[in-house]
Amino acid sequence: MRDSRKPKINKKPFWFSVLFLLKIYWSVYSLEDSQALTPPMGFSTWNEFGCSISESTIVSTGHLMLKKHPADWEGRELSLRDAGYVYVNIDDCWHAQSRDAQGNPQWDSAKFPRGLKWLADTLHQMELKIGIYSCAGTATCCNYFASFNPENPEVGYDPIDANAYADWGIDYLKDDWCNVPSDYQNANGSQKLYARMRDALKAATSKTGRPIVFSLCNWGQYSVYQWGDTIGHLWRTGGDITPEWNSIMSNITANSTGAQYAKPGAWNDPDMMEVGNGSLSLAENRAHFDLWCISAAPLILGNDLSKMSDSIFYILTNREVIAIDQDSLGYQGRKVRTDGDVQIWSKKLKNGAWAVVLVNTGTESTNSSVLWSDIGESDLTRSYPVRDVWQHRTVSESATDSYSVNSIPGHGTVHLVFGSAYWMEPVSIIKNKSLNSSPRGFEKISAKRINSTTTVYIPFTSSNVTIYNLQGKKSSTFFVKEPSWITIPESFAKRNFSIIQIIKSNGSKITLDINSINHSVPK
Ligand code: GLA
Repeated sequence: MRDSRKPKINKKPFWFSVLFLLKIYWSVYSLEDSQALTPPMGFSTWNEFGCSISESTIVSTGHLMLKKHPADWEGRELSLRDAGYVYVNIDDCWHAQSRDAQGNPQWDSAKFPRGLKWLADTLHQMELKIGIYSCAGTATCCNYFASFNPENPEVGYDPIDANAYADWGIDYLKDDWCNVPSDYQNANGSQKLYARMRDALKAATSKTGRPIVFSLCNWGQYSVYQWGDTIGHLWRTGGDITPEWNSIMSNITANSTGAQYAKPGAWNDPDMMEVGNGSLSLAENRAHFDLWCISAAPLILGNDLSKMSDSIFYILTNREVIAIDQDSLGYQGRKVRTDGDVQIWSKKLKNGAWAVVLVNTGTESTNSSVLWSDIGESDLTRSYPVRDVWQHRTVSESATDSYSVNSIPGHGTVHLVFGSAYWMEPVSIIKNKSLNSSPRGFEKISAKRINSTTTVYIPFTSSNVTIYNLQGKKSSTFFVKEPSWITIPESFAKRNFSIIQIIKSNGSKITLDINSINHSVPK
């Protein structure tokens, strides 16, 4: 009789091998190291300082990142660090003319007399982190030594460099793409060189226990967005940004190509920010920040913090907007529709709400609307509360089907959240700080709007009050002798005006968006 039973195959070894191979695959090809779970935030020297950097540039930037600024719309006096900016990154030109005789990297001791280890310790004591720069080619873009070694092309200087960075206490490495030999100018070559540095960093940091965030900078070549997540925590998606509107729009547009590949620990990088640089208007600076935040971009400041105006600080520390960038879902927002000059960008947030930026690429103020199909909502009867994250208030308790937006400034944005009270959730770092939640007299600053007339109550004596429009131009100044109401000129009573600055008799300043003022009348 034939035995109808099939021979018993023990499937366990097969599945064990699959799991084993997968484990090898993940440990080699995926970072999975819990770093940069939200887009990194910090500062870099390149955009504003170029090669003119030194120990004092870095130390004074660190101090400026801790400096408390005038009270914001919630009455909080915060520093950049409080708002989440922690990395202080040194870009190109920190290097000595050459490596030492053993091939170790050396810093320029004229620029950094106490050295990079001392600098790292100093920043760490300030509860900040330090970043450094290298290049996968034979020399950096400014022609200093880099990690490719033509005499030992298969190994390179990567292990020796990674060990030095780990030893110095570095927290972040940006790896550029200048002077890379032509054999490596393709996807395989790019992956090979960057994976080599990734593995060298992994080996070096496993000894020190201090992880290094790895930032790839091959300018979006070879579809880096498709494989960047297996090698680095962020990857540049285009060429170098300049402080001009067209450059900002072109970088953020290129950055959307691989939007679907962004996720916690892996980010498309449209480049360091130019907010506060060149002659960008206040509206352009705000639009730049809005577009970076809706795109879940790394927020790396590129301006000189010692020269930053209060209005630029106010833009860079708008925690409602930063919270959209740092949303833990890690979804990269993208352009969903174009309506004439207006682009509508939308980003899904982890609590089911949607952030929407309307960006006016024209130069004249214009109107547009957000349609439910823009945010992927098929139920046209569904209503959403709408929050304006620059006005810091609910602009509609319940919008259904669509929401119309008036007066989007030329080269400017309106930034909204559709959905539940997402904005109440502070950025993580703020939770840990003890905040002065009710600074002197803030709660008494109030505004009322009757038809088109806006008046603001200033509860101080002998104070100077200045109103700025969105272009950063002073539009009116008032001297308030006694606590009193001031009337805002009508032309500034809509979206055209933005910032009110009060300088009190003792010299202390308060800067806030007029639209955000508590609209109740004080008793
Ligand atoms: C390249 C990079 C820039 C900057 C410079 C430094 O151009 O893209 O971000 O790092 O090099 O030389």
